[in-house]
Amino acid sequence: MSPSQRHHDHHDVLIIGGGTMGLAIAIELALAGAHPTVLSRNFQEAALHAAAGMLAPQAEDLPPGPLLDLCCQSRDRYPTWITKLEQLTGLDAGYWPCGILAPVLKQSSHQVSPTLESPILEPALESGSRWLDRAALDHQQPGLGETVEGAWWFPADGQVDNRALAQVLRTAVTTLGIPLIEGIEVQGWQTTQGRVESVLTNQGTWAGDRYVLATGAWSQNLLPIPVTPRKGQMLALQTPGDRPLPFSQVIYGDQIYLVPRRSGKIIVGATSETVGFKPGNTVEGIHALLAKALTLYPGLADFELMDTWWGYRPATPDEGPILGESPWQNLYLATGHYRNGILLAPITAHVITDLLLGNHRHPLLGAFSYGRFRETI
Ligand code: GLY
Repeated sequence: MSPSQRHHDHHDVLIIGGGTMGLAIAIELALAGAHPTVLSRNFQEAALHAAAGMLAPQAEDLPPGPLLDLCCQSRDRYPTWITKLEQLTGLDAGYWPCGILAPVLKQSSHQVSPTLESPILEPALESGSRWLDRAALDHQQPGLGETVEGAWWFPADGQVDNRALAQVLRTAVTTLGIPLIEGIEVQGWQTTQGRVESVLTNQGTWAGDRYVLATGAWSQNLLPIPVTPRKGQMLALQTPGDRPLPFSQVIYGDQIYLVPRRSGKIIVGATSETVGFKPGNTVEGIHALLAKALTLYPGLADFELMDTWWGYRPATPDEGPILGESPWQNLYLATGHYRNGILLAPITAHVITDLLLGNHRHPLLGAFSYGRFRETI
């Protein structure tokens, strides 16, 4: 029998996708007593590696509504989720509830500063969040560029080191004995009577009782749901060895963010480009990031440029994820997390596990159903 004809044992839950969602869901399911298996095409391409790890429902300027609620609920789950993962693995995920400053440039339209003329443009503020005028801002964070008028301060937002988190998630999967098969590409389904019977892969046919689709920007390869790649280019700077970190909170401007790591590294992101899966960093992309970074914080000028990279966010038309049931009874969806995948990992793992095990249907799931895009399916 050739490898392409090979049939594998019957599985409890087959998770298609070994990125943030696939791993987080597998861990949650295993902890709840299920027996997931993860089929991963290429871990290195997961958006998990490309991200900056911001936990930023407030700084992302989401309008009031289900997505902001889901993001805030997930951010609030972070401390417990990370503690659980770190205890399982003995590793540090670099979780840092450092707060986020969102500077506003003079005459910018981004999170416009409060004036009598434009009070409705204020972000949906949580308690503790507030506007800092330039004098208050200079007190909290010296060194911002002269075109900065003031900043919103979001103390509940923060960050996690996404690359450290990637290692933590992979190690937790191993620690829990969850089979993770790398290099396996799911190419199609066999369905009967409203159920998925098996998936066809480059390594034979795999069958399970239940399936989770967590294939991020590549989801359209398997299902006609409107998830498309939105490329982000990023770079890393290194704080000179003889100096402390110039800031110890995330600084999030208009199409630019500066994320300090305790190691002295500063992650700078990100472009947002609709160019399909076109790989590579461009002069224009990196130039735009560096120019905006220097406008926000001119003191970065002599920092060493360490690295550049890119990745693909899984975008949906309304920028919310697709979560929950699918057109098939035993297939569940966890994809399309766009700019908020790292942030939404704990709540996604929680709601999908509860749904799949029949424990509880999270009230927000209705807002993220694939059915809202029915006309495109
Ligand atoms: N979460 C920030 C970004 O996607 O660039």
